Amino acid sequence: MAGVQDRVVVVTGAGGGLGREYALLLARHGARVVVNDLGGARDGTGSGNAMADAVVAEIRAAGGQAVASYDSVATEEGATGVIGTALREYGAVHGVVNNAGILRDASFAKMTVDQWEAVQRVHLFGGYHVTRAAWPHFREQGHGRVVMATSTSGLYGNFGQANYGAAKLGLVGLVNTLAVEGRKYNILANAVAPLARTRMSEDAAPAELLERLPAEFVAPVVAHLLTDECADTGTVLIAGGDRVQRVAYFASKGVTFTGTPSLRDVADRWSDITDMDGAAVGTNPLA
Ligand code: NAI
Repeated sequence: MAGVQDRVVVVTGAGGGLGREYALLLARHGARVVVNDLGGARDGTGSGNAMADAVVAEIRAAGGQAVASYDSVATEEGATGVIGTALREYGAVHGVVNNAGILRDASFAKMTVDQWEAVQRVHLFGGYHVTRAAWPHFREQGHGRVVMATSTSGLYGNFGQANYGAAKLGLVGLVNTLAVEGRKYNILANAVAPLARTRMSEDAAPAELLERLPAEFVAPVVAHLLTDECADTGTVLIAGGDRVQRVAYFASKGVTFTGTPSLRDVADRWSDITDMDGAAVGTNPLA
């Protein structure tokens, strides 16, 4: 199958920002798109149909195929509804883009349990629930594509985003295992950390920097991960501005000790342990 033609792709949080761009591009390339959006505010409060409806109308006006879903990804029930929309309307689901997201920023010292939990529920639990609802269908048809929206806040850390960073890197951990478990069923899972001017990022960087980060730039990268042409799995990318990069964990050569090292031994060899000269992409030594 060429590109994403006729593929049924669910894009969560597609009522605005990056998700809207993903949905528009996928539909332009012949995908049948489930435009999911709860339709709330940036902090996840509120809900409504208008955002998802507007994107569906835009796609249909351009001759594409799309259907709206207003469920929240944050619950098992909601996620079942999202995938159910794909199955009911189009009889299949071939790909999910777990893009829905909210922010509840606060410094770690001031962050409440509610702020922590609300962000985990949408990002980490959302990615989990929606993928889990699609997984049996992917296995059965011997084809599935998962794209997780991760973030440089998770990959590198960012002030005020302990909740968000933890959730976003949690999704990379989920991708790593989905890649291992999905491969034999032709289910591939990857993650993209976008950099884009949206309502979510509007106060995250200076206006002149955001000007150079159009959301549409990220869409072809996400779409490529949904095609048969892309055989990657477990890959993490950063996409935004004028650049697309792969990000990976590297392991240093390290130090081999004969027997259990003493506290002194570790301190004495610390610079060798942490020296990244000659480091290589890390793999799970227990797998
Ligand atoms: P956005 O706020 O424009 O889009 C997020 C969408 O998710 C909104 O339309 C919102 O209504 C929807 N949503 C929120 N909670 C939901 C729920 N429970 N169920 C269904 N939909 C829900 O923000 P943006 O920037 O487009 O973000 C898209 C994704 O990209 C997010 O996961 C975000 O964390 C991630 N990201 C964005 C970056 C950027 O530079 N804009 C940087 C790194 C990551």
